[in-house]
Amino acid sequence: NTGKLWGGRFAGGPSPELDALSRSTHFDWRLTPYDLAGSRAHANALHRAALLTDADHAELLRGLAALGERYAAGSLVPDPVDEDVHGALERLLVEEVGADVGGRLRAGRSRNDQIATLFKVFLRDHAAVVAGHVLDLVDALTTQARAHLEPGRESVMPGRTHLQHAQPVLLAHHLMAHAWALLRDVDRLRDWDARVAADSPYGSGALAGSSLGLDPEGVAAELGFTGSTANSIDGTASRDFVAEFAFVAAQIGVDVSRIAEEVILWSTKEFGFVTLHDSWSTGSSIMPQKKNPDIAELARGKAGRLIGNLSGLLATLKALPLAYNRDLQEDKEPVFDSVDTLEVLLPAFTGMVATLTFDRARLAELAPQGFSLATDVAEWLVREGVPFRVAHEVAGACVRRCEELGVELDELTDAQFAEISPALTPGVREVLTVEGSVGSREGRGGTAPVRVREQLTELAAAVDAH
Ligand code: ARG
Repeated sequence: NTGKLWGGRFAGGPSPELDALSRSTHFDWRLTPYDLAGSRAHANALHRAALLTDADHAELLRGLAALGERYAAGSLVPDPVDEDVHGALERLLVEEVGADVGGRLRAGRSRNDQIATLFKVFLRDHAAVVAGHVLDLVDALTTQARAHLEPGRESVMPGRTHLQHAQPVLLAHHLMAHAWALLRDVDRLRDWDARVAADSPYGSGALAGSSLGLDPEGVAAELGFTGSTANSIDGTASRDFVAEFAFVAAQIGVDVSRIAEEVILWSTKEFGFVTLHDSWSTGSSIMPQKKNPDIAELARGKAGRLIGNLSGLLATLKALPLAYNRDLQEDKEPVFDSVDTLEVLLPAFTGMVATLTFDRARLAELAPQGFSLATDVAEWLVREGVPFRVAHEVAGACVRRCEELGVELDELTDAQFAEISPALTPGVREVLTVEGSVGSREGRGGTAPVRVREQLTELAAAVDAH
């Protein structure tokens, strides 16, 4: 006996080189509680099918519980000879309850349906944790937005397209743009979870199902699934649930990286929009004056890693013939890494966002600069009956004149306006303030304070509904 789960037909044990390559215990050991839960449900199914006596069933459950306790206490450890978590736990179970009882548990199941099932349960647990972290970040953004929405004192900022000054917007409006994107990521995790929950692979066996009259639906229910897989080949061979999880993780990373990049820019001397809290920034070992946005930079960098995990997985899955192939063992490390990355990144990132201090005065000063009110001039002319093509030209001519004179739009005199176009009467000045500009964008989804306050309510309700 080689101590393996599959020694019977082999005359000799595997070479050490094969063992070293094949082994996954060093990364799949963390699935132990999930493997034990699956084994418990499987023991119950064997018992219901009259394949285990009451006494053996009770002894198996006792043994599994004992292993669970030792794992929780940190005293259950795999042996270097163990190939994977499944083999290690069977060996330890046999040590605990004896070979006669312990050797009965594997009937009617394969590591192929085991791993497909318990990886789903593991990811479902972590999807809930990650969703909670993302909601915390949404909450931090929403709280910052609310703090900059006091009636009459709403913080404004230069809104940008192409990173160039475009139109003034409310800071709260900008912050909530990030929050909505993150909330969709939470929705993605929920949608993913409902799909995965309906599809427990236990009972699929190696690929063809089981001949032992087991009860996949019962096992599924016991493991928190809403249904069991309709096709045992699909159940053991598909990993789209892993790739989809990795995609959502990567999308979260990408969405966070877009906030990160802004924080990095905003905290430069040149922008001067935000100050980072001391506890959420770092210094330099040589330059005493430095205060660095490391959390944001790590977020930006880790987005690349999350994307890499997804790409690697898809490459592993591409063109893989049905059913189970050992290639599929490569699905775990990248996704464990995505889970671990997000679970350490998101709390730090949320702390940084929650403690940002915005320089309202600087934001307000820059908001109208770079001729960001030119669109307001054009739209004012439209309201005065001028066709937009003409209005666009006229507003553009105002900008050109300002550039010649080295002034901003509101610094043009009535005479200079009239010279550009007779339609530009002094009435145009009503839109040449940031307040007038943002206040006028009051369609649904616009940046007018009244709409942004409604949006905050809508966002808070959407968060509550999650
Ligand atoms: N450790 C494998 C995995 O993660 C499961 C074992 C299946 N091995 C086998 N020879 N069928 O996919």
